[in-house]
Amino acid sequence: MCGIVGCVLKDDEAAPVLLECVGKLEYRGYDSVGIATSASDIKIIKDQGKIDKYKENLDLKELPGKSGIAHVRWATHGSPTKENAHPHTDCKNRIAVVHNGIIENFKELKTELLNSGHKFTSQTDTEIIPHLIEEYMDEGQDLEGAIRSVTRRLIGSYALAVMSTDEPGKIIGVRKESPLIVGLGEDEYFLASDVPAVLNHTNQVIYLDNKEMAILDGNDVIIKNLDGDVISKEVHTIEWTPDMAEKTGYNHFMLKEIHEQPDAVKNTLMEEKEIRNVIEKFPKFSKICFVACGTSYHASLVGKYLFETLVGIPTDVILASEFEYTSGALDKDTLVIFISQSGETADTLKALKIANRKSHTLAIVNVVGSTATREAEHVIFTRAGPEIGVAATKTYVSQLTAIYLMAILMSGKEELLQTLEKMPDYMEEALKSEEQIKEIAGKYKDTTDFFFIGRGFSYPTAMEGALKLKEITYIHGEGYAAGELKHGPLALIDEEVPVVAVTPPGSSHDKTLSNVEEVKARFAHVIALGSHDDDVLKSDSDEFIGFPDEINEMFSPLPYVIPMQLLSYYISVERGLDPDKPKNLAKCVTVE
Ligand code: F6R
Repeated sequence: MCGIVGCVLKDDEAAPVLLECVGKLEYRGYDSVGIATSASDIKIIKDQGKIDKYKENLDLKELPGKSGIAHVRWATHGSPTKENAHPHTDCKNRIAVVHNGIIENFKELKTELLNSGHKFTSQTDTEIIPHLIEEYMDEGQDLEGAIRSVTRRLIGSYALAVMSTDEPGKIIGVRKESPLIVGLGEDEYFLASDVPAVLNHTNQVIYLDNKEMAILDGNDVIIKNLDGDVISKEVHTIEWTPDMAEKTGYNHFMLKEIHEQPDAVKNTLMEEKEIRNVIEKFPKFSKICFVACGTSYHASLVGKYLFETLVGIPTDVILASEFEYTSGALDKDTLVIFISQSGETADTLKALKIANRKSHTLAIVNVVGSTATREAEHVIFTRAGPEIGVAATKTYVSQLTAIYLMAILMSGKEELLQTLEKMPDYMEEALKSEEQIKEIAGKYKDTTDFFFIGRGFSYPTAMEGALKLKEITYIHGEGYAAGELKHGPLALIDEEVPVVAVTPPGSSHDKTLSNVEEVKARFAHVIALGSHDDDVLKSDSDEFIGFPDEINEMFSPLPYVIPMQLLSYYISVERGLDPDKPKNLAKCVTVE
């Protein structure tokens, strides 16, 4: 949800660097782009649309200066127009601000500012911030003091980068609830919403906590709290390389990330020792509750089946946005497990705050240093590397791997580790279906509705297949428990509605096969995923995607999700869409 960047460079012009850095954050929003730099006065160039379009009309010479700020927007308040694009300025164009978050009391503050004569040019909540800073600077405060005063007036979430012509060469960042990091280069300093923005410049970063401020100038970075006291912060060395945030020859990040999945699983498997350490600290729990959103919710659903099957602990799965309405019965005998790629999802963080007061909490997170990792009682990192495509792929399988490791270790059935360790090879095999899936995608690209069905461990896989389809192809996809079809949705099935059936060998196989027969009897086209040896399923399906027979239903979520991801990816490409940047979505959802 919006990406912000700021930089102060010693020798170089800031504009090209800001453009490059903010380009690495485009997964956070692509409704508009804007850059502001400051030499003698503030120059701003902004426009609606994606960065590629913005670059077409951009003359970087019109943005002189060694410091500046930049923004990519995911619209919340005000439509995605040029006027609503950041940076926003005060009345005299001496203060410029970029913002990620939502100012909940902006209407009251805007009315107050309008009454004192301020002129607004956008519908955004953000624009009140430069005007408020202007008020405090007009009263005689310096930029830092004015920002501090403004933060006392704001209700909501924010990561801000601010500059003023009164204090040239200085950029100030401050955060509450929205992420902000400081990058420490050689004689150059950065602010950014996320690490990939600065990877080409430095691997040394500081993670700002809530209500902390970073003051960057040509000589140094000072971190203060909102009382103005200087605080010392740990500097983290990032292990990600710049290549990891590049497409490296693939047409899209999503395709690259789909192909990285066997390695992502191997990386998570290397966390086994860390996971053992975490588990050793657990008291005995009588209940487990997973909390997550979207794809991470689907990983959690697999967790429910695993924990109940292997560990024998009753396990709930709750959507993070519903958690506050259903968390009444939590107690200290419950472990609440939060699954989040970003560790910054607002719904998840809110639920984590509630759970921390009542239960033991664990966060399974990909992004090191993210808010969830600092707020949960225990943390497991998935180590999938940076994921830039908006649709989660490799981080899903790494979340699954962390959950498998936990469930196997907690159950004491460690012989299953051997099966888990074979999964990267099976996933490599599954990637070989790419050409076949490309062909299937061509056949079904104009379909308007799909069903995805599965039972038990395959139900979450069906749900994840449907979510991928919806988000990147804009085709309606319904993920359904195969046994539920007859309770309503079967009425929708006809020759126009393809059904993707997830049918690995195991206890649920025969019943799902019956459901396949039922949809065939209603003339549906069936795209089936199952064992190479499954002749009945093969003959029942119009398209058949085969897997080695030894992958049973318990471990099937790892390899079986791959054809689903590829199917959505290739349908998206066939329809002329950009799978990396689906409309209306952003990777990191920092609003409720
Ligand atoms: C779907 C997708 C989203 C995220 C969801 C949670 O492809 O990426 O559904 O899974 O927004 O995000 P995290 O895992 O960062 O909390």
